[in-house]
Amino acid sequence: MKSFPKFLVLCLVAMLAITACGNQAAAASSPVASGSQNVAVPSGQTLSYALESGLKDGKMVFIGVGGEIDGQVNPNLKAKLGDTLNIKLTSGEGAEHDISFPDFNATSEHVTGQGNSVTLSFTVDQTGTFPYFCTLPGHRQAGMEGKLLVADENGSVPAAAAPSSQASQPAAQAASQPPAPAAADAVDIVRDPTDLPGPIGDRGPTTVRVDFEAVELNGKLADGTTFNYWTFNGKVPGPFVRVRVGDTVEVHLKNPAHSNMTHSIDFHAVTGPGGGSALLQTPPGQESVMTFKALHPGLFVYHCATPMVAEHISNGMFGMILVEPAGGLPRVDHEFYIMQNEIYTTQKFGTQGQLTVDIDKLLNEQPEYFVFNGAVGALTTDHPLKANVGDTVRIYFGVGGPNFISSFHVIGEHLDKVYNLASLTTPPMTDVQTTLVPPGGATVVELKLEVPGKYILVDHALSRLERGLAGYLEVAGPDQPDIYKSGPASGN
Ligand code: CU
Ligand code: CU
Ligand code: CU
Repeated sequence: MKSFPKFLVLCLVAMLAITACGNQAAAASSPVASGSQNVAVPSGQTLSYALESGLKDGKMVFIGVGGEIDGQVNPNLKAKLGDTLNIKLTSGEGAEHDISFPDFNATSEHVTGQGNSVTLSFTVDQTGTFPYFCTLPGHRQAGMEGKLLVADENGSVPAAAAPSSQASQPAAQAASQPPAPAAADAVDIVRDPTDLPGPIGDRGPTTVRVDFEAVELNGKLADGTTFNYWTFNGKVPGPFVRVRVGDTVEVHLKNPAHSNMTHSIDFHAVTGPGGGSALLQTPPGQESVMTFKALHPGLFVYHCATPMVAEHISNGMFGMILVEPAGGLPRVDHEFYIMQNEIYTTQKFGTQGQLTVDIDKLLNEQPEYFVFNGAVGALTTDHPLKANVGDTVRIYFGVGGPNFISSFHVIGEHLDKVYNLASLTTPPMTDVQTTLVPPGGATVVELKLEVPGKYILVDHALSRLERGLAGYLEVAGPDQPDIYKSGPASGN
């Protein structure tokens, strides 16, 4: 966490100003004073509180700056009936936030960019305990919530708390409203399943640099439907990273200045706190670098690990890194890169327009969309997998989730080999119909294609087929009537 000398100075200035006005000097830190005023309508004081957004123990929080609340996480703010509160909110980590006291109809402007501030001023006209929080989607749930305690003239806060305001957007109400028109600037965020580097080949361990950029953008979720994705390098899933065991990997993560959120990466291939995310929390306009040694071979998921992590993943921030064992994997004719995730929108599946993320549905694990490679139709109409009769194919399949297990299945084919749970040091299972892949997990499967035609990739929890989850494997070549044909076995 950064240090606050600048804010301490500001706070001291604020406190001096209060003293000069004849109010108590300690107002900023202990507004509920013992001295009582014997008047019916209290003459309020002006109290100043400074807060800064930040990340603490994996949560997004408000941190007190100056006075008694200095350094406190989501501090209790105290006032007396009739007081006027001056709240200053600084973006400590550079991400976009606001602060809202809905019981007093007071919400600040948004603030973004490290060190920038907004102020909010209002008078407290009721006693009790009231929530304050950030209204940006997911931030309250990710931890940005504290309490304002308003005492009466005698300095006591009523025991019965006022009904606390709930989330700012009732989902049912939002769902009944038509969505905004589809974003005109929406782009194709689908990663082509053939977009992955080739085998490492026969080399010893070396140092490899990989570059990531956090890109927030409007993307096409389905025909006529757009969504604000958060991505690595503009595509879903993020880039396929390929190294070998023993390699030293230097990771660069850039977050453009126009981003609204801090982003990071947790690599399941990393040995170290947070899978690297402790070192890669990157506010807008900054770049972070970390280095790790790939100790274990396997196919590993990576994902953003900035609160709310589930939201960053669901919005598209996941991918995979393959750490090849020494000598690599057996040669195949085609390799494909596929990942599954769920998307939580306020609007129902199939709604046209620009859909909005729904944090309540996310927390209740009620997605509207299930997709391969980020969008409906990504692997059917847009980028079907293609091969020929007689070919061997290998699919690197992972689940970003954030919540749903995949029962990965290829309709009409067999998984000849399954590197279960993507372990490359365990002999693969053979002749499997359907394989389980947990969120934050992966598998490597291999198929030999015997019969031409169109095969459908699914999660065998087949309701999800109706919510966008399907891919095609198109196999070209001559018919194989000895394996598959119409009509009875006998006769010609
Ligand atoms: Cu916020
Ligand atoms: Cu992120
Ligand atoms: Cu993880």
